[in-house]
Amino acid sequence: MKDLNGKNVVVTGGSYGIGEEIARALLKEGANVFTIARNKEKLDASIEGLQKDARANRTAKGYAGDVGDWPVISKVIEQIASENGGIDAVINNAGIYIPDYFEKQDVEVFERTDRTNYLGSVFTTKAALPYLLKNKKSAVVFVSSAAGLKGIFGYASYSPTKAAVLSLAEAISQELKDKGLQVTVLCPPDTETPGHAAELKIRPKECDALSESAGLMTSAEIAEIFVAGFKKGKFMVIGGFDTKLLYRLNGISPRFVDYYFGRIVAKCRRQSV
Ligand SMILES: NC(=O)c1ccc[n+]([C@@H]2O[C@H](COP(=O)([O-])OP(=O)(O)OC[C@H]3O[C@@H](n4cnc5c(N)ncnc54)[C@H](OP(=O)(O)O)[C@@H]3O)[C@@H](O)[C@H]2O)c1
Repeated sequence: MKDLNGKNVVVTGGSYGIGEEIARALLKEGANVFTIARNKEKLDASIEGLQKDARANRTAKGYAGDVGDWPVISKVIEQIASENGGIDAVINNAGIYIPDYFEKQDVEVFERTDRTNYLGSVFTTKAALPYLLKNKKSAVVFVSSAAGLKGIFGYASYSPTKAAVLSLAEAISQELKDKGLQVTVLCPPDTETPGHAAELKIRPKECDALSESAGLMTSAEIAEIFVAGFKKGKFMVIGGFDTKLLYRLNGISPRFVDYYFGRIVAKCRRQSV
């Protein structure tokens, strides 16, 4: 989507973290932005800040809702479209990640993570599609992850949901490209956000060892990389050198990456006995 000026863009999970910075970057490009999140107070506080970055005659509004609840999210999307004159793009960013050992993790976490990350993306996109397809040029974005490119130790409840959104994006792109729908997948690496800060407190030590060599990006950096790739119409937008390397290496030799990760895990375990 080359020109974002005047476009109506929905950002799920836009009240803090990566989603909020994407919303801010889109506002700076002249878009109207409609963010969705569950906590109304945090959403309102975020909108107050975001409005300062809106261009003249452009708007930022927040709508409370859970992307994993179809009756709720379909109504919210309908409301956004009817109140604001349609929808040009949707950024499926809302997501949760709760790392733990597979052996220990409760099935409820798997269900909740899948409902938010995968079904939340399906529901939001399904609800918005009739509005998106009214335009000759529209777009849908799925926020995957480095952990969606490769199953990662400690992320058994998360990696598959992010691989699923990538696969969903490929299927939708094949089906709807001819109708003018741009499909983009964003894969951020470890990024400083409230979600990431919470994750650091609970994740297994092996996860720390695996991510040690990779850097930590800011949400603003990811938003900038995203907007640049999105405007060029790219399918894959990958943030950070390590994630790009993982994408390439795993494509060539997934067993080599397994071997390399296995060595890091083994070393970490040796050091902690
Ligand atoms: N940070 C990283 O290191 C990293 C790396 C790779 C990929 N990602 C992906 O990037 C996205 C954003 O991550 P983040 O780190 O910015 O997360 P975050 O700091 O935890 O922010 C998550 C946002 O999503 C909203 N949200 C969560 N569950 C929701 C639901 N069911 N319905 C609607 N909104 C919901 C939150 O607001 P409420 O809680 O009020 O609903 C908040 O606005 C996620 O999809 C994540 O998987 C993050």
